[in-house]
Amino acid sequence: MNKIRKPILDVLQGREPEHRPVWLMRQAGRYLPEYREIRAKSKNFLNMCLTPDLATEITLQPIRRFHMDAAILFADILLIPMALGVPLDFREGEGPVLQEVQEKELEKLVYDAKKVEAVFETVRRVKKELPPQTALIGFCGSPWTVACYMIDGNSRSHFSKTRSWAQDKPELLDKIIHTLIDASEKYLVSQINAGAEVIQLFDSWAGLLSGQNFTRFVIEPTRLLVERIKKIHPSIPIIGFPREAREGYGPYIRETGVDGLSIDQSLDLDIAKRDLQSIKPLQGNLDPSLLVKGGKEMQEALAQMLTKMGPCHIANLGHGVVPETPVEHVRDMVNFVQAFKI
Ligand code: CP3
Repeated sequence: MNKIRKPILDVLQGREPEHRPVWLMRQAGRYLPEYREIRAKSKNFLNMCLTPDLATEITLQPIRRFHMDAAILFADILLIPMALGVPLDFREGEGPVLQEVQEKELEKLVYDAKKVEAVFETVRRVKKELPPQTALIGFCGSPWTVACYMIDGNSRSHFSKTRSWAQDKPELLDKIIHTLIDASEKYLVSQINAGAEVIQLFDSWAGLLSGQNFTRFVIEPTRLLVERIKKIHPSIPIIGFPREAREGYGPYIRETGVDGLSIDQSLDLDIAKRDLQSIKPLQGNLDPSLLVKGGKEMQEALAQMLTKMGPCHIANLGHGVVPETPVEHVRDMVNFVQAFKI
């Protein structure tokens, strides 16, 4: 029997894909009317993440409409702090708010898998429903980015407290980060055991660090986490996304052990091709505002990206789909990429 190949896995494992693969960060979300309908009926966002019926439905919504090459599990990077016992709230129009972690309470952070069992059930259900050529991506936040939310509680002050811990109390930050590496390993291994076929690590705030602190709090924790997952599941590809890491992308792709690198839109594609794609497959980096604009401008940028990057590339945005994105533009992007020749 001829096994159906998944284009995203082909790219990440070094084979030429049958067509150019595409998926979008935040492909399940507020730009979709069917998502907004569920959102309006639900008590809160966290409840949606932790109800397998709803999370499965939301994960599948963009796949049914647009047939992307991968589904990404509907959940959130802040479920790990929740599983560590940190009170978490998603407020309307305000984003996530966590209870700030106190220095003296670090010992009390213990990962309780039961609190996120619903996530693994969602993975099992989605896996059963997906078309055979569609890959399922599991994810978590990288330790640095999750630590930012745990220490500051929210993003209002651009994580000033976390940044001051990095300078003045690095041992405390190391401690939180190691707790997060342990929890993330368990959480991701459970997602893989339930059926996730690719893992993405979201380091949305990697760009806040540079130099030695980037090495200590971004590269080293990612390297450890990747090493531990690979020990248990050596063949599951891992994509890293150290957003806005600038000159940090090079050391990140060379030293962390990730199989693919997602790049943000600030990176020049010629430089990305020369310095990064020569090492590992890349993902990205269309500006999300071009997906809002759509039309000729978007198609020209897509053609340029696809021509430059060649088949060793997963088409995606440089960050998530924004809520004002017209649904038709998402359809155009997916069709354009999947039909692209050369
Ligand atoms: O479609 C997907 O990409 C899968 C689901 C997913 C969500 N969040 C759902 C979500 C993923 C992969 C994430 C990752 C995530 N969550 C990140 C890393 C990526 C990034 O955007 O930088 C971060 C930093 C978070 C934390 C978070 N969750 C914030 C800051 C917010 C508020 C901002 C916003 O966009 O509303 C969320 C809420 C959130 N997570 C929504 C969704 C669909 C919107 C919730 C709503 O409907 O109100």
